[in-house]
Formats: sequence, structure tokens, C-alpha cells
Amino acid sequence: MSPERPIATAPRPAAPPLDVGRIRADFPILERRVHGKPLVYLDSAASAQKPRPVLDAMDRAYETSYANVHRGVHRLAEEATKAYEGARLRVARFLGAGDASEIVFVRGTTEGINLVARTYGARHLGPGDEVLLTGMEHHSNIVPWQFLCERKGGHLRVVPVLDDGTLDLEAYERLLGERTRIVAVSHVSNVLGTVNPIREIVAAAHRRGVPVLVDGAQAVPRMPVDVRALDCDFYVFSGHKAYGPTGIGALYGKASLLGAMPPWQGGGEMILSVTFEKSTFKPAPHRFEAGTPDIVGAIGLGAALDYLEGIGLEAIDAHERSLLARATEAIASIPRVRVLGTAPGKAGVLSFVVEGVHAHDVGTVLDLQGIAVRAGHHCAQPLMDRFGVPATARASFGLYNLPEEADALAEGLRKVIEVFGG
Ligand code: ALA
Repeated sequence: MSPERPIATAPRPAAPPLDVGRIRADFPILERRVHGKPLVYLDSAASAQKPRPVLDAMDRAYETSYANVHRGVHRLAEEATKAYEGARLRVARFLGAGDASEIVFVRGTTEGINLVARTYGARHLGPGDEVLLTGMEHHSNIVPWQFLCERKGGHLRVVPVLDDGTLDLEAYERLLGERTRIVAVSHVSNVLGTVNPIREIVAAAHRRGVPVLVDGAQAVPRMPVDVRALDCDFYVFSGHKAYGPTGIGALYGKASLLGAMPPWQGGGEMILSVTFEKSTFKPAPHRFEAGTPDIVGAIGLGAALDYLEGIGLEAIDAHERSLLARATEAIASIPRVRVLGTAPGKAGVLSFVVEGVHAHDVGTVLDLQGIAVRAGHHCAQPLMDRFGVPATARASFGLYNLPEEADALAEGLRKVIEVFGG
């Protein structure tokens, strides 16, 4: 299989540069000081900060139009339902889905993957069948499939990761077999920043009649995503990484698949009728949304997607890549610092180890300088094992980061070397 250029790195007209000064004014938290220093927030891949329009949309919903959805005939219930379903339409448009009914609101990426494993997976996996993952998956795209395999007598198969952090696509072709029932793959690695060639991965799976679930948690906040162009079967992302609130995310599923999937959680909102003998269920997406949903979270997510589109995903992508290039170059000359993940066209995520210093110590010394990075295994322990490290430090860029903040990271790392003996 010849590597296809990932969609996100395909040549495209240059996006105009972001007006980062103006953007930063939308994020009240960026005015904070930490340990007496200006905050340098380089942890957006873990969770992004929230702009005023998101905070305002949520306040407005609670202050003026709040009630439960789908149940009431009164005015506020109608307004809340309209706003909640409007957010669903917003997500559908953002992802390029054909219809709002293909969008299920979930708590986040993790819940979306669990939903698919528990419904589609449970129905299609039998003893001896296989789920094909990759070696760079987040635990949320491993453990739900492990549970499924344990219950059904299936097996996980894993596409290896090459030294530069790209997938071994030839191995992928070989591993796609008679027993493969689903492929589950991240769009962008949360550790390596690798942008996987999803269209090509999907096409290869479809040639064998196998559906593909894409974990889009790290892609949606930073690059244009079009689920119909990718032709993936399921696509999942979290609101909180996309500058929206925590506790809300979305699962896209092709109508033909969602429509044939059984419910997973039972309760109110998802039924058509209930007797003690038998219950019947609403069609998708509501059959997958038992109980009162995160109404205001969905409204906040809609506002976050509006905000991202207002700035432009192409421009955000270009901005983050330029910060990544600047930071990568700036830390290259620092002794004992080694970057993990050098895939061509990688996204704005920079993982590194400092030889002889634990990642947590790196994170702590950076924090004392006001610089927030994530340190640990990043919920990707198999990937850490693959690279022979227990943990890394990770800087991740967002639309509000300045070039000077990429430089601050390098300065901060020099300090780390100084503290731990140069
Ligand atoms: N999955 C999030 C990360 O990569 C928490 O940091």
C-alpha cells in the first residue's frame, strides 16, 4: 500500500495567519499568572481553554431558556429542545455528516467508543473474531474493545508503529483478515502528533467489507474533518478538547449502521413504549441517549464549533504547525532532549523525553516557570512500551498560542537541564 498523503497535509491554499492577540482576548483564563509568571498553556491536547462565546452561550441558556428537553409542552422546554437539537445539527454540519440523526451526543470520545463496542461490536463479534487496532491508540480506544473480546471470545490485533511514529501500512493490509469485524484507529495520535491516512485505511477495510471507527479527539480541534470524504463508518470526538465544555462529545455513525444497532443504556427519552413485558425504542439517535442529556453542554459545544469555524480550521491547522515547527527547532539544540514522533505532516503535539530526568520532574520545573505541559504515559501505555520509555513530557499547541510561547518552552527546558545537572 503506498502511503497516501493525509487529508490534513494535502496541499491547499495558504490560510491567512491568525490574529492571535485578538483571539487571546476571548479567553479570560489566559490572563492568569502561575507561580508569579504569565501562564503559558501548552496542554490543549489534554483539554483546551474556553472562549467567551462558549461561556456566554452556556450562561445564556441557563439564565434564559433552560428546561428539560423533548418532554415539555411549555415554552422553555420548546426553546431548550430547539437549542439542543440545533446543536446536533451544528455538529452534523461541522463533521460533514449527511443528516443530524447520524449524530449521537455522548459524554466524550471514551463514551462514544464504548457505545459502539457495546452495541455494534456485541452484535457482530463472535468467538475467534478480531478487532484491529493500532499501536498508537489511546486507552479509550483499546480497553472497550478488550472488554468486548473478553465477553465474546474475540481477539485484538494491533498494527505496529514504525520508528518515526507512522503506522506500518503494509502490516495493516496483512492484518486485515477474514476474521476482522471492525477497525478502530485514531485520526491524530495524542502522543506522536501523527496524522493517520484515514481515507486509505478506510478504503482498505471497506474492500474487505470491514467498518472503521475513527477516534477524532485530537483532529476535530485542529483540522478540517469531513466524515463523508473520509467515508469512515463511525467518528468520535470530545467537546472539551475542541474549546467546548467537558462532559459532552459526539459520535457520528452512518445512518445504515446506527439504525441497525440495539440500544445500550435503558431509561427515559430513548423509548417509544414501556410495559413490564416489553419495551420498544425510538430510532437513532435518541435510542442511544437515555436519561436527561447534557443539554447546556451540547449548546456550549455548538458555540465552540461556531467559534472554530469563525476562525477557520485551515488557519488553525497552519498556525499550530508553525508553532510546532518553531518549538521543534528551538529544542533540537538542547542536549539530552529527544523528540518522540517525527512523522511527516504531524499535527501540533510535541512529545519529548529529557535523558536522565523523569517526565514528571520536567513538567514540575516547567510549571514553576508558568509553563503547563502534560507529563506521563498520556493514556497510551502500549505506545510508551513501543518506544521503551515509561513516560514523556508533551507540549501541545492551540489556536491561542503565540510564537513566543514556543520559545518559552525551549527556555524552560534549558532551565530543566540546569536544575538537573547539565
Ligand atoms: N486524552 C487526553 C490527552 O491526551 C487526556 O492528554
